[in-house]
Amino acid sequence: MFRSFTLLAGILVYSVRGQSNPMACFDNNIDVISLHNCLAAYFATPNSLGLAEWDSMLPVMDEISQYKQLVKATMDATDPSFCSSATLNSYPAINDDITMRRFMNYYCVIVEKNLRYGKSPAMFNRGWGYVIIADKSWTLRNLHHSAPHPVSELYTPTMSSSIFYITRSRSLINAGASRDAVDGVRSPCIADDPVADAAHENRTMFHALSAAIYEHENSNCSHANCAFIQWHSFANNSCNDTKIFISTGVDNSAGLYNNNALPAIKIANAFNQLGSVGATAKTAKDSTCNLLASDNIQGRLYNGVAAGDVCTGNPASSQNTVTGNFVNINLEQWLEDVSRWSHTISMAFPNSGSVVVPKVSAVIFAALVVLKLSYF
Ligand SMILES: *[C@@H]1O[C@H](CO)[C@@H](O)[C@H](O)[C@H]1NC(C)=O
Ligand SMILES: *[C@@H]1O[C@H](CO)[C@@H](O)[C@H](O)[C@H]1NC(C)=O
Ligand SMILES: *[C@@H]1O[C@H](CO)[C@@H](O)[C@H](O)[C@H]1NC(C)=O
Ligand SMILES: *[C@@H]1O[C@H](CO)[C@@H](O)[C@H](O)[C@H]1NC(C)=O
Repeated sequence: MFRSFTLLAGILVYSVRGQSNPMACFDNNIDVISLHNCLAAYFATPNSLGLAEWDSMLPVMDEISQYKQLVKATMDATDPSFCSSATLNSYPAINDDITMRRFMNYYCVIVEKNLRYGKSPAMFNRGWGYVIIADKSWTLRNLHHSAPHPVSELYTPTMSSSIFYITRSRSLINAGASRDAVDGVRSPCIADDPVADAAHENRTMFHALSAAIYEHENSNCSHANCAFIQWHSFANNSCNDTKIFISTGVDNSAGLYNNNALPAIKIANAFNQLGSVGATAKTAKDSTCNLLASDNIQGRLYNGVAAGDVCTGNPASSQNTVTGNFVNINLEQWLEDVSRWSHTISMAFPNSGSVVVPKVSAVIFAALVVLKLSYF
């Protein structure tokens, strides 16, 4: 069943590619998961851009600062009417590029509205991805999900959006370009990684939006109900002793992972409690895997590295700014299982609030029936 869900998600992505107007995604989709699959069809694909073109798509300072302000204002908004294109008149630097719309009764979606001229397949003009913020009154968990690596890490953006939706989390950011969108050029930020890699390039809008959510939320982020969760996947055998490696962005030299309240530990424990699928989730406490995400620039920021130093400053695990609020979930691609991971996140962050199951399309529903309502 899980595999057929993955296949269906793939078919959805490819079947909407012919559509010429991404705004039609809002009319044709009834839940966040299918909305995501529709919008993601317009993300920049591998090797689709030259360096000069990519550079011209990057946000400039005014665009970054207004988009960040907009995200924070949306987090604070209590009146649903704030989420409308009229609000963007107060954000002139980005008004020509983005739109914001209510979706279902509980979400504000902020996304680009223009397509890039002359591209086939069609892609968004700026490659900025999108943000979805759930109403505070609808949110059951103050969790912030993101996926920086569309295409190269397969369905991780489908996972981030599905798990955000199913667990009624607070925010979702998905990057709008494959990290391989510009072939063969390295990032001036983290030289080991490609220039369009949103987790390793501080000039991307993904990084700015991740910073906005962090700046708004971090002072009120307690391990009991809050975390910044980034979804990743790797090739089989990338780690020699685990297929799922969950990191808070630093090693265990300071004993951080001995804390059972740490979000990374709670998530690993919840996954393992669900029973065997031929993989055990591990952290730096019980694995020698070196994929700690210590060069992940959102992780660095969330671990207290100054915004201007994220390209160079490696957070020491002993640094007292490391909160453990960042969670980097990295797994072999065959474990990209929405149902199991939604269940895991719901267990790791239990909620006693009212139970309302989100509306899902028939296609997605087939993959979700196994979720036990008690975990919502
Ligand atoms: C990215 O980091 C460099 C320093 O490594 C800094 O000079 C630059 O201003 C940063 N850019 C953005 C958009 O934050
Ligand atoms: C802090 O977080 C808690 C739990 O999510 C929430 O109930 C509360 O309203 C938040 N406080 C502020 C000031 O945002
Ligand atoms: C990765 O490992 C899984 C589980 O052993 C296997 O089913 C899958 O085919 C492997 N994938 C690749 C690309 O080898
Ligand atoms: C995995 O690799 C590390 C070095 O990266 C090594 O210390 C360790 O013994 C290896 N573990 C296994 C199970 O092969």
